Amino acid sequence: MQPFMRHRRLRANETIRQLVREHHVHIEDLIYPLFVVEGEDVKAEVPSMPGVYHYSLDRLQEELEEVKALGISSLLLFGVPVEKDEHGSQADHDHGIVQKAIRYIKQAYPSFYVIADTCLCQYTSHGHCGIVENGEVLNDPSLSRLSATAVAQAEAGADMIAPSNMMDGFVYAIRRGLDEAGYEHIPILSYAVKYASNYYGPFRDAAHSTPQFGDRRTYQMDPANAREAMREAASDVSEGADMLIVKPGLAYLDVIYRVRERFDLPVVAYNVSGEYSMIKAAALNGWIDEKAVVMETMTAFKRAGADLIITYHAKEIARWLRQG
Ligand code: PBG
Ligand code: ZN
Repeated sequence: MQPFMRHRRLRANETIRQLVREHHVHIEDLIYPLFVVEGEDVKAEVPSMPGVYHYSLDRLQEELEEVKALGISSLLLFGVPVEKDEHGSQADHDHGIVQKAIRYIKQAYPSFYVIADTCLCQYTSHGHCGIVENGEVLNDPSLSRLSATAVAQAEAGADMIAPSNMMDGFVYAIRRGLDEAGYEHIPILSYAVKYASNYYGPFRDAAHSTPQFGDRRTYQMDPANAREAMREAASDVSEGADMLIVKPGLAYLDVIYRVRERFDLPVVAYNVSGEYSMIKAAALNGWIDEKAVVMETMTAFKRAGADLIITYHAKEIARWLRQG
């Protein structure tokens, strides 16, 4: 008995496998997140994210040189302020940590495309992404704070605004704020579909943004819902989002696929901190082949339909891509 269908013909060697390969990971697909902290002479590894560091501005140069040399062109900036208060005053302060970092990077390394994460949770004493009253995260009063933060980031020279707060109407509020301030040319990369995920744990260590009470489930999405993700994305598109993030990535490949099918804006997968730390931990134990697993994971994001990937693995991937 001879099989008629012989799928193995196109798998016989690496040359033919390359010829028929449907998806590729390019260095241009990657956005590298960076944590900047207040203070001097700080380069501190995030304990739950081996290989990821906090940098003070005076130490940022060494990281930027490395990232630039590796050919990574875009950065997603997170600030870790010292001062926190109820309204997150440092978020839109002219000398807030992210605003200072943007100014420094755009002046010293103008070739970097600098994306600013726009949220309040790192800056608020309660650690929530909006304004809190009587233990409740208020929607509408948060919008003006978020819009002011985006404008401050644009004023500092951000190339793109990436709001991650999940308040209703945040894209419209920020779009209007930017337009009124003369930044109508600055695009919005919306965290359109953001789940209330346990995969953010290591990030919250890194950004010191763990909520002091409750959780984020009144504003971030229920992991069980995929149709609702279409409604989230649709409202952001109608409010003027230029690109859409799905977050987290790996456990939500079906959502990436659906967003890709339904909308024509560029789709970005956020390969979040917990996804990074799980691979790192297994790799450091010698349990998996790090390079192979990371590249397989990135390929999965592309196959699901992501155009771009925000990933803490970006520097290593850049090195591996060079080695071929
Ligand atoms: C805060 C924010 C979070 C992440 C990016 N921006 C975490 C959260 O919502 O608590 C997650 C990033 C990651 O886990 O890598 N708005
Ligand atoms: Zn937040």
